[in-house]
Amino acid sequence: MRTELIKVDDQSVEILKRAGSIIREGGLVAFPTETVYGLGANAYDKSACLEIFKAKGRPADNPLIVHVSSPKDAEKIAYTSPLYYKLAEKFMPGPLTIILPKKDIIPSEVTAGLDSVAVRCPENKIANKLIELAGVPIAAPSANSSGKPSPTTAQHVFDDMDGKIPMILDGGEAQVGVESTVIKITEDSAILLRPGAVTVEMLCQVCQSVEIAGAVKAELRADEKPLSPGMKYKHYAPKASLFLIDDSKVNFIEFVKEKQRTESCAIMCYDEEIELLENKNLLPVGKREDIKKQTHNLFILLRKADDLLVDTVYAHLPSDEGESLAIYNRMIRACAHHVIGGINGED
Ligand code: TXA
Ligand code: MG
Repeated sequence: MRTELIKVDDQSVEILKRAGSIIREGGLVAFPTETVYGLGANAYDKSACLEIFKAKGRPADNPLIVHVSSPKDAEKIAYTSPLYYKLAEKFMPGPLTIILPKKDIIPSEVTAGLDSVAVRCPENKIANKLIELAGVPIAAPSANSSGKPSPTTAQHVFDDMDGKIPMILDGGEAQVGVESTVIKITEDSAILLRPGAVTVEMLCQVCQSVEIAGAVKAELRADEKPLSPGMKYKHYAPKASLFLIDDSKVNFIEFVKEKQRTESCAIMCYDEEIELLENKNLLPVGKREDIKKQTHNLFILLRKADDLLVDTVYAHLPSDEGESLAIYNRMIRACAHHVIGGINGED
């Protein structure tokens, strides 16, 4: 199959109409969102959604997020609640996904047999317009091959999906850089299943309490059943071994300078550290305090690290608080919990 890669903005109505009809008629289209690129299919069409799993090589028991163009369209696919609308008013459209009891119209293949469905209303204007023009809710996981970092540029999608899908819409770099925050809600509280740009602190402004699911910060115990199937998969692991350095215990600069002398390695450093290191395979993440920039750069740099063909990659252990929890959650998975000077004194 030839894969069309087309530059678009929210004024590209004719292209978005064409993309919308591909989706409505059972085809797949990759599209930009504010978080990462998605691989979309008509959420009502079971066989179209099964094609998503095929194109990604995704395990069938990992459910998809269903995207709607306005928060009230959740009614078409799920049973909402007053707390859903309170959250929607504050955070939708935006990078928040809410798990709700599902209606029968959504095929069980989309939700991997669960009786709940993940609902998200993206803020990105191209994504939003596409859903509107498709005229159906769009089921879309991140548009990467399973096991690779989520794509934040159309080129990343092309690298993974060329020849597998008919169309990729190129709307430039995804702004946030990591996937949406995923929560499950009860009457007045929330459980955080995946951290993203909508933080625990922000959710606490609306919910009575927010519990952070255990798997967000740590590896699952063998006997633990994940609340969200996605948690149990070893997410992205770079080709090189990734080590996180707890810089409250280890002098980062001294440590990695020595590694630069003795190993084939890449260093994910803060911008302020560039001039203190040898100018070789440096992957600057942003300024130390600029968490938004670091989030934006995260998957771009992890993909770059793979291209450098080094044996090891060293990076700072991110903070697990506030906006940084989303970075922590992705990095701790990517490094298979190799923390130098860190958690439980490992390594
Ligand atoms: O930002 C995002 O959310 C992107 C863009 C494209 O919208 N999408 C995305 O989808 O990251 P995906 O499929 O890569 O991640 C969806 C996560 C998985 O961890 C999945 O297990 C979880 O949401 N999930 C989906 N439906 C669920 C459900 N009914 N109950 C619990 N977890 C669910
Ligand atoms: Mg994904």
